[in-house]
Amino acid sequence: MSGVKKLDSCRVLIVGLGLIGGSLAAALKARNGCREVLAWDRDPQSLILARERDVIDRAACSLEDGVADADIVVLAVPVLAMSAMVRDVARLDLAGKVVTDVGSCKSDVVEVARECLGDSLSGFVPGHPIAGSEKSGITAAKADLYEAHKVIVTPLPENTLAASQLVRSLWEGVGALVLEMDVEHHDQVLARTSHLPHLLAFSLVDTLAGDRDSQDIFRYAAGGFRDFTRIAASDPTMWHDVFVANRNALLEALDEFSEGLQQMYAAVEQGDSRAMTGIITRAKSAREHFTRMLESQSYLKAMSHQSSHTFLARSGGTATGTLRVPGDKSISHRSIMLGALADGVTEVTGFLEGEDALATLQAFRDMGVVIEGPHDGRVTIYGVGLNGLQQPPGPLYLGNAGTAMRLMAGLMAAQKFDVTLTGDESLSNRPMNRVVKPLLDMGADIETSEGGKPPLVIRGGRSLSGVDYNMPMASAQVKSCLLLAGLYAEGETAVVEPGVTRDHTERMLTGLGYPVKTDGNRVSVQGGGTLTSASLIEVPADISSAAFFLVAASIAKDAELLLTHVGINPTRTGVLDILRLMGANITLENEREVGGEPVADIRVKSAQLKGIEIPEDLVPLAIDEFPVLFVAASCAEGETVLKGAEELRVKESDRIQSMADGLNALGVDAVALPDGMKIPGCAAGAQDVFAGGVVHSHGDHRIAMAFAVASLRARDEIRILDCANVATSFPNFIDLAHSVGLNLSETES
Ligand code: S3P
Repeated sequence: MSGVKKLDSCRVLIVGLGLIGGSLAAALKARNGCREVLAWDRDPQSLILARERDVIDRAACSLEDGVADADIVVLAVPVLAMSAMVRDVARLDLAGKVVTDVGSCKSDVVEVARECLGDSLSGFVPGHPIAGSEKSGITAAKADLYEAHKVIVTPLPENTLAASQLVRSLWEGVGALVLEMDVEHHDQVLARTSHLPHLLAFSLVDTLAGDRDSQDIFRYAAGGFRDFTRIAASDPTMWHDVFVANRNALLEALDEFSEGLQQMYAAVEQGDSRAMTGIITRAKSAREHFTRMLESQSYLKAMSHQSSHTFLARSGGTATGTLRVPGDKSISHRSIMLGALADGVTEVTGFLEGEDALATLQAFRDMGVVIEGPHDGRVTIYGVGLNGLQQPPGPLYLGNAGTAMRLMAGLMAAQKFDVTLTGDESLSNRPMNRVVKPLLDMGADIETSEGGKPPLVIRGGRSLSGVDYNMPMASAQVKSCLLLAGLYAEGETAVVEPGVTRDHTERMLTGLGYPVKTDGNRVSVQGGGTLTSASLIEVPADISSAAFFLVAASIAKDAELLLTHVGINPTRTGVLDILRLMGANITLENEREVGGEPVADIRVKSAQLKGIEIPEDLVPLAIDEFPVLFVAASCAEGETVLKGAEELRVKESDRIQSMADGLNALGVDAVALPDGMKIPGCAAGAQDVFAGGVVHSHGDHRIAMAFAVASLRARDEIRILDCANVATSFPNFIDLAHSVGLNLSETES
């Protein structure tokens, strides 16, 4: 075939007017997709029906005539008839024509095509629409069958580009999403995703129908039976043919399934609740992930960088009422990690059901840990002990979660197996040498990609030795990583920190009975101990999430908020100290200790803030709160200066640049410094501190939420782009913000 033909100038011949061929004809007709829709079928009745229903333009008198008139020939006959049809077509003159098929197995058709098509193989592009229903025949044809459905095209190395592009445009022309795969991979994937489930449905219904009590079984069968067996009503000939044609790949899939079934059988027979729960919870979370994929929710969008979530933050809002923000992200990550490594069962309450913590949860499930939940923040972890993790089936995907990757690097370096840690675009650009270098010093074997970036390829089976590490930056993630590796290392592992950082790892280890020694700014563990279960870890509300509302109520007029059950660990309360230095009206009520972490209800009222020089020793204690503190500083009277915070440049985004750009876009003359920010502030009481406009969050959750808060003192609406990642730390932010009076909503545009 020479030159690239356009679909709208082509005559398309559909050979076989069943559900698949008939629907393609109907779709092409309905969309005026091509010059003419021709059809040929062995059964004249189908052709008559197709004409009557206006599904085709013209019925060909014979296969020969049809092919002679056509530019594109679509073989849509049953799978077992496909090879014979390819042979029949191969005898005709195919010069300049493109031929494709719709069979659900590709290897056998391609083998025949290679045998008999000769030069015409360059124009034979196999395809497979993943659409259908349990109904069959031309009477079931639907013009919208392919809309938003996937079609797999399996181009051959012999194909011309023009031929494969034309087949692509044929399917895109009827609204399908076209994917490409090689032939063998296609057959293996389909054996698992389609052929095996059909085989199981047929087999189950047949077995039950043969049962003595089948009448009763069918009479009382409920939704579960109906959902599982719907596809057992599919076309028998077609499915027989598929099972024959894809024999090898199907048998392989069936072997895998039989192994899984044996495990379930043994678990039920032995009353092994942990094994049963493991299978069920892993399946449930995989199924939920699949549902999210189908619905294109934020997790998938964030993974595929197609996020288009925009926040609309309108002026005129307020911040009044009582609210509890979601669970602490740092503590949630650690609860899964240490709960998994403990001996015995750990219950977690208040767990953050945000994508970051869920990524950690999934990673440990992938390493064989049975974890139930989360249900309303409650998680049950069946600990496997320090040496009980198993090799995951593939790389561990940690999404946007830097904490997960850095802490797990330490744990994974000490395991018996190899593992690869990967993440989304933002995480893939974050520096990992800060953990990799000291881990290498301990004897770990880790490879990063260029510049010390993820993925991390970690080889297992190493014996680690303790180190005495002088940390160059104040980082709780680095400290925690090394302490976790230190649990497995020979001797003592010690970390000396240049500034105070959050100590949740130390507290939780102590709570789980693992001795941790703290001596001024030096913290250490001895390797070789065990973690006993704490039985309950109560995660307080996250002060980093509360920070948005602390600032909101401070800058809004006549506002008052009560934030309940907030973690006030002194290594995290820099935001309270900084806001108080700025003149905020904040009081702590009902101070108490919950599960080794101090907690309080925080009351905050409107106040006229004033600019300050932020004391550098508070920087690590408020490291995540600066985006919203910059918003507070913009509303303060007089200049605010932050220095010594270069760490902000390597967070989920470069938070100094992202905030300076956004503030400038809103008319605030903030100046980015290499290690901080200078913000001029405004006249006391000025209402329209921010002009309104469009800002970019750079996929950074905290930038997005900070600018939402800015709307409380904005003249016009603020549009914040790329906000899907708010779900990493604060999935219900919009609802909570709305419930206390912010004018915040979300659009998909
Ligand atoms: C975290 C530590 C901090 C913080 C991050 C969570 C943790 O990072 O910014 O959001 O859970 O240990 P660094 O330790 O790198 O400063």
